[in-house]
Amino acid sequence: MAIHYYENENGKLFQLDTIHTTYLIGILPGGMAAHIYYGERLRQPGGLYLLRLRECPPPEAYPREKVAFLSSYQAEYPTAGVGDFRESCLDVRTESGARGCELFYNSHTIEDGKPALKGLPASFVREETDDKVQTLRLTLSDPVIGLSVTLLYSVFPQEDIITRSALIQNTGSGTDCGTLILERALSACLDMDYEGQEILSLHGAWARERHIQRAPLPYGRMRLESMRGETSPQEHPFLALVSPGTDQRRGEVTAMTLIYSGNFLAQAERSQHDQLRAVLGIHPERFAWTLGPGEVFTAPEAVLTYSAEGLGKMTRSFHDFFREHLIRSPYRKQDPPVLINNWEATYFGFDTDKILAFAAAAAKEGIEMMVLDDGWFGKRDDDNSGLGDWIVNEKKLPGGIRRLGEGIHDLGMKFGLWFEPEMVSPDSELYRAHPDWALQLPGREPSLSRAQLVLDISRREVRDAILEMVFHVIREGGIDYVKWDMNRYLSDVWSAAMPADRQGEVYHRYVLGVYEMQERLLAQFPSLLLENCSAGGARFDAGMLYYSQQIWTSDDTDALERLKIQEGTALVYPLMSMGAHVSKCPNEQVGRVVPFATRANVAMAGTFGYELDVTKLAEDERAQIPGQIRRYHRLHHLMAQGDYYRIHSWRDEAPYDAWMAAAKDGSEAVLTYVQVLGRPNTASERLLLEGLLADARYHIEIAGFKENDPAAAAAAERDAQRFGPGAGMPVPGDYTGEELMKCGFLAPALGDGESRMYHFTKI
Ligand code: DGJ
Repeated sequence: MAIHYYENENGKLFQLDTIHTTYLIGILPGGMAAHIYYGERLRQPGGLYLLRLRECPPPEAYPREKVAFLSSYQAEYPTAGVGDFRESCLDVRTESGARGCELFYNSHTIEDGKPALKGLPASFVREETDDKVQTLRLTLSDPVIGLSVTLLYSVFPQEDIITRSALIQNTGSGTDCGTLILERALSACLDMDYEGQEILSLHGAWARERHIQRAPLPYGRMRLESMRGETSPQEHPFLALVSPGTDQRRGEVTAMTLIYSGNFLAQAERSQHDQLRAVLGIHPERFAWTLGPGEVFTAPEAVLTYSAEGLGKMTRSFHDFFREHLIRSPYRKQDPPVLINNWEATYFGFDTDKILAFAAAAAKEGIEMMVLDDGWFGKRDDDNSGLGDWIVNEKKLPGGIRRLGEGIHDLGMKFGLWFEPEMVSPDSELYRAHPDWALQLPGREPSLSRAQLVLDISRREVRDAILEMVFHVIREGGIDYVKWDMNRYLSDVWSAAMPADRQGEVYHRYVLGVYEMQERLLAQFPSLLLENCSAGGARFDAGMLYYSQQIWTSDDTDALERLKIQEGTALVYPLMSMGAHVSKCPNEQVGRVVPFATRANVAMAGTFGYELDVTKLAEDERAQIPGQIRRYHRLHHLMAQGDYYRIHSWRDEAPYDAWMAAAKDGSEAVLTYVQVLGRPNTASERLLLEGLLADARYHIEIAGFKENDPAAAAAAERDAQRFGPGAGMPVPGDYTGEELMKCGFLAPALGDGESRMYHFTKI
C-alpha cells in the first residue's frame, strides 16, 4: 500500500510512501491541513506531533494569535486573505467582493489507480502493468463561501513520484456564496524549513533554451514564470531546491514540475522565519475564472520528487515517470524513423521536383522519412503571409500533396508535414474572412510577431475550421508525421466570444483548446507520429509530452550549443523526447563548423534526424550517414529506455562534456564524450562511469565501428596512433564495471569539437 491513514488525539495523518520517499500530511484537530514532511522513506508512521511544535499554538487552542500562527504554519494548500502573507495557492472572490478563503478537512478517500483530469494532459497507469499506484482524495471545504477543494495526491512508488492536482468546486451553499471568481488556483505548494537550499532552474531564450541555473535563496521571492501564453524559452515550469554541495550523485533534492503548457508561476520564497515555500501552477496574473454553483475547476497536475542521492536520481525518477506514465505515443517502444527536414536546407524555396530529388538523395543513404517544413500552403513564399490557409499551394506542388506523398512513399520513405495550426497571417484568406478569430484588443492595432497573429483557439468554431483543413491535407498526402509549430507568444489577449467579465479565462481556455485539438488529431490518426515545436523549444514541456513523445528541442542545431540545451532539457525530460538533428555547417545560428561525426554523436542523444541537403555534403561526410543510421537503430533503445547519467558538464577549466545511457539491467551502455575546446599539454580526463554492474566485465568499442562508419574506424586508428599501443583506456579492451566506475575511464584529449561515442557490452 502506498497510502496509509492514521488518526489519534493529535489529529489525522496521511503517509504517502514511494520506494525511497515519504510524504506526510497532517490534519489538525480544528481541520486545517498541514504539510509535515517530504524526504527519505520513513519506516514508521510519525511526525504528527510536529504540528504542535511551532512557536504559536494552532487557532483552535489559541485563537487570539491566529495570524501569528499562519505566518509559520506549513500549509498543504495555502489560501489568501485570512492571515498567511506568503504566496498562496487559492484566492477566491465572492459576489459581495470579499476575498478570503479558509479550508477545513471534510472527508477523504484512498483509491487504487490514477484518475484522469478533464480536458488536461495527466499521468496515468497503463492497463498492462501491475503498478501499485494509489490516489488520495483529500476534500477540504470553506463553508462560508460554499467552496470545496479536493486535493488529489497520486503516489507512484516505483518511480519515487507523487503528483498533485486540485479540483475546486462551487457547492453553492454558504453565507457569502453564489458565483465565485477564482483569482488564483495553483496546483501545489511545498512548505519546508530553510536549511541553506539553493534553487536550480532552467533558464533561456530562443536558440538558448533550458540552460541550467543555480542560485542561493535570499529572503524574499524567487519567481520563475511565463506570461507568454505558452511555457516559453525564457523560464521553465520546474524548480529544484537542493542542499548545499548537491551534485549528480550526492545531496538532497526536492523538485517539482508541471504538466501544463501555458502561463505558469514556479516560485520559491524564503520567509522571515527561515522557512521555504515553493508553489507551482497556472500564473495568477491575468487569470480569473468564474465558477458558477455546481461547477468545478481543475488545476493542472504537478509532479513532485525527492532524491537523497543528488540530481542524477531526480532526473532518472522524472524520466521513468514520464516514459511510463505520461507518454502515450505508439513510438514509445519503437525507434522513430530517421527523418530529414528541408527547413535549413531550402527555407521557402522549393517545389515538388526539388523535394523529391532531395528525398531521393536522402533515401539513398538510408534516411527513412522526408519532412516538408514551412511554405507548402496558401500564399507562403516567405513568413509574411499565408498562415491559416491550410490548402496546398499548387504552384509549388503541382498535383497537390497527394502527388508529393506518393512520390515520397514510392521512395520507401515516410512522409511528414509541417503545420502551424494556432496562427493566422493578416495577409491570408482566413483572416480576411474572419478577422474576429484572431486574439486582439478592441480598438487597438494588435502587436505582430513574425508578421502573424494568434488565433482564438479558445473558440470551438475556430478549432473546428482549422482541424477540418488539416485533416483533409493529412488524408490526401497519406501523412505519417506532423510537426506542430507555434511561432509567436500570445499578446493582445481578448476573445470576441467571451463576455467582459470572463476575459480572465482566455489564456487557460486557449491552452485547453490546444490540448483538445491535439487530442482530436491523434484520435483521428492513431498511428500518426506527432512532434511538437514552438519556434524551437519554447513549448518543450510535460503537457506537450502527453500528446507528442518527441518535441523539437531548439532552433539552435549547432552541436556545441546543443550540449548545454540538451543537458538542461535532459535534466527533467527523457532523452527520447528531444528532437535533435545533424545540420549543415557553417551552422545557421552561430556560424560554427563542427565535425560531422560530432554533430551525429550529439544528435544521437535524442530523436535522430538530419536537417541539410545530402547532395551538398562533402563526400567523406555523406559516407558516414548509412553507418550513423545503423548505429542509431542499434543503440537508440539505450537512450529511449535506459538510465541517463550526466558524467561531466563542460566549463572553462574542463571544456568537455560527457553523458551516458545505460540499460536498466546493466548489460550495455553508451558513453558520449565531446571535447568542446582542445587544450594543449593536458592529462587525459578521468571519467567515473555509472550505470554498470560492478562485478561484470565489459567490452568497449568505439560506437559505429560495427556499422562500418568510416568516422569510427578513423577515430580508432587516430587514437591508437596518438596515444601509442597500450596507452590509456581509449584503446578498446575489456574492463570490470567496478574499475570503470571507481577508478575511471580515461577519455582521450581531442581537438576542438571532436568527440567519441563508446559502446560497453557486458561479456
Ligand atoms: C520554427 C521551427 O522551430 C523551425 O524548425 C521551422 O519549422 C520554422 N519554425 C518554420 O517556420
